[in-house]
Amino acid sequence: MARIKRIATASAPVNIAVVKYWGKKDTKLILPTNDSLSVTLDQDHLRSLTSSAAVEVEEEEEQGESASASAAAAAAAASKDRLWLNGVEEEIGSEGRLRTCIDELRNARRKVEGEDGGVEKIAHLPLHIVSENNFPTAAGLASSASGFAALVWSISSLYQLNSDSGGHLSTSALSRVARQGSGSACRSLFGGFVAWQGGEAKDGSDSLALQVAEREHWKDLHAIICVISDAKKGTPSTAGMQRTVQTSAALQSRISHVVPERMQRITSAIKQRDFDAFAKETMRDSNNFHATCLDTSPPIFYLNDTSRLVIQLVEELNRSSEQAGAGAGAIAAYTFDAGPNAVLYAPEKNVPLVLSLIRHYFPNADFDDPFKLLPSLPRDGLSSAD
Ligand code: DP6
Repeated sequence: MARIKRIATASAPVNIAVVKYWGKKDTKLILPTNDSLSVTLDQDHLRSLTSSAAVEVEEEEEQGESASASAAAAAAAASKDRLWLNGVEEEIGSEGRLRTCIDELRNARRKVEGEDGGVEKIAHLPLHIVSENNFPTAAGLASSASGFAALVWSISSLYQLNSDSGGHLSTSALSRVARQGSGSACRSLFGGFVAWQGGEAKDGSDSLALQVAEREHWKDLHAIICVISDAKKGTPSTAGMQRTVQTSAALQSRISHVVPERMQRITSAIKQRDFDAFAKETMRDSNNFHATCLDTSPPIFYLNDTSRLVIQLVEELNRSSEQAGAGAGAIAAYTFDAGPNAVLYAPEKNVPLVLSLIRHYFPNADFDDPFKLLPSLPRDGLSSAD
């Protein structure tokens, strides 16, 4: 029987990149070949909820506090860490990404316990972690981003490492840990508009997420997720991006100038709330990313016929708005990750038109009713309890 000594719960939402991360220069540390930028979505719809508990099991009670400071005790605890994902226990591999994240946070807690004798000793206790998504994991939506962000935030709350729980680690510092779980996860620690600065350092010390603007800065911007297929994707992003790094010449232009220039333009579009510029950069980056996947050998196909029809529909809509003149600008923007599902961004006033057109042109669509999402701050609902 395990007895909970201390527990903390955190939730983190999904983020959808408008400038895509695709490629690693270090696969262990997860250092990207280019910067990226995303919008963090509202967690009422797509989020991971994770509770982490430091537990006492019989052997630990016998060992008592004396063993707590030793590395051997931490290693013994690590071997007893357990994780349940959506109700099913998962193996925590000894070399895996999950292990890396837990070890980094446990080591940070051990350091605090070593420096401050008054701090409760819990680093030597095994962790029991329970995590759930409020959306189907197989829906082709970015569950690893919200999953690792919620995991890192819940353990850092349990260990009182993050600034919200009185600790010394900033959210950006913790994003370095989440990054080693899944690259895109580093961006889900922040709400609103978030950049992942790829960094130069070989040890990954400057590869972290930064908030470009709060959600409140651009409340009018909405995201609509169109679930076109809920099948698991054919080529997982981790494997797909490595194949691209090894074989695609087009990736080199993305790294050297396409993304650096786009990061500047989209950051200024966000700062100025310029939807037309934001839409153009978002759509062009999605297309450039999928062209790069096609340039990979063998090619990677993430879009299907329905995805391409959605692209055509949005392009037509924007073109008709341009022709109507009066500086109306783009009505909506599309973007696609490593799968066929569309994410549309639109100012609030355009959302009814976009939804009605989708329903009109896809009356028998094999995708669920698109649902509307507001990007929001990620840490509502974060709680920790002793
Ligand atoms: C297309 O973050 O899932 O969604 O770091 O290997 O876990 P790993 O990959 P992951 O890749 C996401 C790729 C993307 C683009 C993006 O989110 O920036």
